[in-house]
Amino acid sequence: MNAESGIRLGVNLDHVLTIRQARGTDYPDFEQAIAAVERAGADGITMHLREDRRHVQDEDVYLARRVIRTSMNLEMAATDEMRDIALEVRPQNCCIVPEKRMELTTEGGLDVIAHQARISDLVAALKDAGIAVSLFIEPDEKVVDAAARSGAAVIELHTGVYAEARGEAQGRELDRIRAAARHAASLGLVVNAGHGLHCGNVLSIARVENMHELNIGHSIVADGLFVGLEEATRRMKAAMHAEI
Ligand code: PXP
Repeated sequence: MNAESGIRLGVNLDHVLTIRQARGTDYPDFEQAIAAVERAGADGITMHLREDRRHVQDEDVYLARRVIRTSMNLEMAATDEMRDIALEVRPQNCCIVPEKRMELTTEGGLDVIAHQARISDLVAALKDAGIAVSLFIEPDEKVVDAAARSGAAVIELHTGVYAEARGEAQGRELDRIRAAARHAASLGLVVNAGHGLHCGNVLSIARVENMHELNIGHSIVADGLFVGLEEATRRMKAAMHAEI
């Protein structure tokens, strides 16, 4: 799938809750935020329940499961605690992400090669519960191969290096993302991407062949400060489709 055929947008709302947690208030209201981005055409809602609970709290995850009308994507570390929560909540999707430096590849994705057995076990447990599992990985063919071996049906390519690079370095990183997406699709994997994307850099990623869904959070919440979350989500969808 690519931009022309309807690439999906998952909106990550973690940073709405960063604002709430900064003061320990009961606002901004999470349910209202979910409803706003869904009204604007978000195809799914993503949240990361971190081990340190710095933004999303356990009760937010349960609330989200009840009120999301589109599709819920729970990002989680590869721990027993998170597995048990995911099995209880049963979101439609889980994305396994690194949280500790040891779980990272050099550039920031999940080190599937070093943790193959643990990740494969987790993927199997989540899949048995009917949850679609994705692995957040570097755009590296060897890591894509390891993701396929783990049994995950979906990968999310880390676009952080692309987002921070400039000029030729950004072009080279885009080529790596294209190659990884092509390779993953040839193995039958669904390809998502995310991290660091904003209206100014999203189009090249949205146009990568075989791209199914982008998960975008920080820039949408930031734009929401000025135009509201609903309009910020609309603008992102338009930017993904080169309509602005
Ligand atoms: N995808 C994954 C796996 C993430 O962990 C995050 C949040 O860091 C994102 C996408 C969204 O990144 P951003 O908030 O920079 O848009």
